[in-house]
Amino acid sequence: MSRLAMLGGAPAVPAPDPVTAALTDWPVVTAEDEQAVLRVLRGDRLTAASGGDGETTALEREWAEFTGTAHCVAVASGTAALEVALAAAGIGPGDEVVVPALTMNATAHAVRRCGAEPVFADIEPDTYTLDPAAVPAVLTGRTAALLPVHLHGLPAAMDALGDLAGDRGLAVVEDAAQAHGARHQGSPVGSLGVAGCFSLHPSKNLPTCGEGGLVTTDSDSLHRAALALRNFGERPPVRIRTYVAHGPGWNARIGPVQAAFTRSQLSRLPQWSKAREESVGALLNRLAALPGLRGPVVPADRTHAWHIVRLRLVPEELGLPDVAPVSLRRALHRALRAEGVPVSRYQTAPLPAHPAFRPAGSSLDAIAERFPVTGAALDGTLCLQRRHLNPAAVPVLAAYADAFEKVWDHLDTIRTMARARPHGDWRDELREGPR
Ligand SMILES: Cc1ncc(COP(=O)(O)O)c(C=O)c1O
Repeated sequence: MSRLAMLGGAPAVPAPDPVTAALTDWPVVTAEDEQAVLRVLRGDRLTAASGGDGETTALEREWAEFTGTAHCVAVASGTAALEVALAAAGIGPGDEVVVPALTMNATAHAVRRCGAEPVFADIEPDTYTLDPAAVPAVLTGRTAALLPVHLHGLPAAMDALGDLAGDRGLAVVEDAAQAHGARHQGSPVGSLGVAGCFSLHPSKNLPTCGEGGLVTTDSDSLHRAALALRNFGERPPVRIRTYVAHGPGWNARIGPVQAAFTRSQLSRLPQWSKAREESVGALLNRLAALPGLRGPVVPADRTHAWHIVRLRLVPEELGLPDVAPVSLRRALHRALRAEGVPVSRYQTAPLPAHPAFRPAGSSLDAIAERFPVTGAALDGTLCLQRRHLNPAAVPVLAAYADAFEKVWDHLDTIRTMARARPHGDWRDELREGPR
């Protein structure tokens, strides 16, 4: 049995040379992407036009077609997409919006930027997305919208959430920042609520060079409102810009270079999503044989975009019933990273525990009690991010699987490490900083 790398053995995943490093590069920039950017640089329009330049309009047409929606508005970032969509849906001061406790902070920041207040609900243990059963308890007379997040690329339980919202006249805005191309009951994300919001950050499955975002909708009025909000509250010019602000607005425009780059990437999205389905599937098949390790659950009515792969650790299955999941996670994190597997943590505390969103006077203990499923997900999981997005990563993912198997051959060492500090959870890390 070869020695663990953290104890001086050779890592299971060889240190990348320039050729193997390229297999996990993301985003992949092709000659076509470069040509798309050059087309803009050599053209006569470098600024984002108030009504949308040719590249932006073309991207909007193509993304609306891809998501099966009537309209798309391209904006400056995924956060801007959320802000514009919420405001265009009429969300404003005095309103409350239900947000899952496990998501990137931008989801809740966007609610605040509209003058509304995020109200948090716990997630489902299997899918890590907003739990419809947790929503009724947080609804008040001020609730105006639900903001489910298709976290990691898996659509939330949109049918149950849609029923809840429909019964009470609430808007559903999708945070699909991580889920380009995922489907729920056959329908693409972005078409499942009053508006869908996507990020084009370079780390995302559909990237741009720089920052960008997309809002999708079937509503003509929401579309009109989003166009105005993107551009200082001005109405899209019919012929000549008047500069008259008809309502609130931001400068949330995307530039033509970003739009052109994303259009070029979009031409490969279907083919690369399919490749990812296979490469991530092959990795998860191998990991499924390891006790105490659970891959993501994908309900039969959904597809996963595999933006992030979250792996759950089950201490009881490894003979560690008295050890806190966080202790097992720390031991495995150290051992796997030493072997060359870039496991990481995606989010370290429930969003309602972040100082920006924690109600004055509420303790971390109270938050841990209110969001136990989010806490358990943060403590007992490890993530793979970004390196699996490149369709050429297949041999690297196979080497990651080798490394997991090697570490699982040394479970006695992992158990000893986990037992050395058997207690704790995300609260310690928020107080003490990450370990
Ligand atoms: C779930 C979620 N929502 C919103 C955003 C914000 O997107 P952007 O970084 O493009 O502003 C992100 C980005 O990481 C995200 O992951």
